[in-house]
Amino acid sequence: MLNQSERKAIILYYTCSKNTERLAKEAELVTKECGWQTESILLRTAVKEDIQPENLDFIILGTPVQYFTVPEAALKLIKKLPEFNGTPAFVFSTYGGCVTNNVPYILAKELSKKGAKIIGGAQFLAPHSCRINGDAAIGNVEEAFGKGRPNEKELDNFRDAISRAVRKIESAEAQSIDPNRLKINTMSFISSFMDSFSSLKMKRLFMPHVEINSGMCTGCKKCSIVCDSESIDYDEDDMVLIDRNTCTKCYACIEQCNEGALTTNWKQVEIIVRSMNKIAKNTTTTIVS
Ligand SMILES: Cc1cc2nc3c(=O)[nH]c(=O)nc-3n(C[C@H](O)[C@H](O)[C@H](O)COP(=O)(O)O)c2cc1C
Ligand code: SF4
Ligand code: SF4
Repeated sequence: MLNQSERKAIILYYTCSKNTERLAKEAELVTKECGWQTESILLRTAVKEDIQPENLDFIILGTPVQYFTVPEAALKLIKKLPEFNGTPAFVFSTYGGCVTNNVPYILAKELSKKGAKIIGGAQFLAPHSCRINGDAAIGNVEEAFGKGRPNEKELDNFRDAISRAVRKIESAEAQSIDPNRLKINTMSFISSFMDSFSSLKMKRLFMPHVEINSGMCTGCKKCSIVCDSESIDYDEDDMVLIDRNTCTKCYACIEQCNEGALTTNWKQVEIIVRSMNKIAKNTTTTIVS
């Protein structure tokens, strides 16, 4: 049997406003406290660096919920991951108090296709990043949109689930769970009905474009690093350009720009987000292991 110090875990995550990253870092800490070698790594980096699945003992994968589902760019990256040949895996998602459409189940399904063995999963309420009047995130102000979540108790439960998984892997007792237990759905009848006839494209149609304040752009190029749909380019003067045809309206570039050079019609986003929250309000966190 392997020593703890020879055990390896990898935490793969996708994030636009750092909620999912926060949980990935918690999982990294727990596995390190268990004496394992661990790294948490952005999905885009994992794909770019072509991570090697050999000698991996545990995979943890986390993404936010976007437009009711796994972010389109994250899903594309997950599909590019290597085969995991029976490695135990734990999946989790974070959401902002509105509709979630079985995201942990979808993540589990994708990792299973890669040969991973799903041993647990979770879904956490976390602050919604939609800004009120372009200023504070609604999730930092209102409890219904994730203010203060996940709380200490929820974080403790998450740490506990990860450390129990680690101990089970060490003693070769980690069992697959029934993936249907990860069908953690916050959709009401109305939202299920709406979802059944609206495509991802159609959902995004109602969301505003990213707008550029050219005068404020310093040409630092930080925004393109977070754009997984490769929709950002720069003109000959290093001024930012966005391709509206390929942009998936994830708003990660707005979060990334410290100069205020990128923005959107937050009022329009707020109206949509509030209506979604009315249709399918949910503030629960669920952990399955
Ligand atoms: C473009 C976009 C779409 C979102 N769609 C949903 C949604 O459908 N349901 C929901 O509950 N939260 C939604 N949210 C909120 C995020 O899921 C939530 O804030 C999540 O914790 C963000 O994680 P991150 O900080 O790791 O990006 C959305 C956020 C963004 C930016
Ligand atoms: S839009 Fe912002 S992040 Fe992007 S290049 Fe300009 S200043 Fe930098
Ligand atoms: S341009 Fe901005 S909003 Fe559009 S996909 Fe890229 S990061 Fe997301």
